[in-house]
Amino acid sequence: MAKLSYHYPLSIRIWHGINALCILLLIATGISMYYVDPNRTLIEFSWAVKIHNITGVILSFSYLIFFISNITTGNRKYYKMPLKGIGERLLKQSQYYAFGMFKGEKKPYPITEQRKFNPLQKLFYVIIMYIGVPLVIISGWGLLLPESVIGAFMGVSGILITDVLHVAMGFFISLFLVIHIYVSTIGHTRSANFKSIVNGYGWIEESENAK
Ligand code: HEM
Repeated sequence: MAKLSYHYPLSIRIWHGINALCILLLIATGISMYYVDPNRTLIEFSWAVKIHNITGVILSFSYLIFFISNITTGNRKYYKMPLKGIGERLLKQSQYYAFGMFKGEKKPYPITEQRKFNPLQKLFYVIIMYIGVPLVIISGWGLLLPESVIGAFMGVSGILITDVLHVAMGFFISLFLVIHIYVSTIGHTRSANFKSIVNGYGWIEESENAK
């Protein structure tokens, strides 16, 4: 019998809201700067630069909210990924997304009090929150304060390396966002997860003993 459980602490929800808005703005302004064309602009270049810089600074501070509250609220436990059997768990979840889901099979890793994310979600959340976002923030600060970047590394300009890293991570986060929103629709109902990240309550789909 499905029931609601308080799964999303307030600070995580506040971070998520700020983060989502910032990332959307950063993508729009980032694209405007990358494909700059005086005849066809999404956001006028000088405005795009200003908004991108300010939003990047806000994103950096909001990341601190995530990092600190993930530890202090205990939310971090949902991100723990024991390496033993990880391949098998990821395969099971991938098979469910690729085939099982369309055949009406049961979820291999339903949400319980102790498990908020399935193994694939967990892997992507760990990669995006502990590698992707930190790298985009660090490289962004490097581009904002170019004098802090090393001159060259193995003959290649430090600024060029920082720029490529920044654009690559921006692209990776944009791709993550599309998949993230699609996967979020595979919940108790199509809109259930979107309500959960706003009001804090997620649907427990099976009893605690569920494998
Ligand atoms: C319009 C933008 C976005 C929407 C509509 C959205 C939607 C959601 C929803 C519905 C959930 C709850 C489902 C779940 O727990 O898996 C969630 C959680 C999450 N989202 Fe997003 N998201 C957006 C942007 C982002 C971005 C840009 C990132 C990271 C760069 C992100 C990272 C996360 C993380 C890490 C969680 C789990 C939070 C936790 O409970 O610890 N989201 N999001």
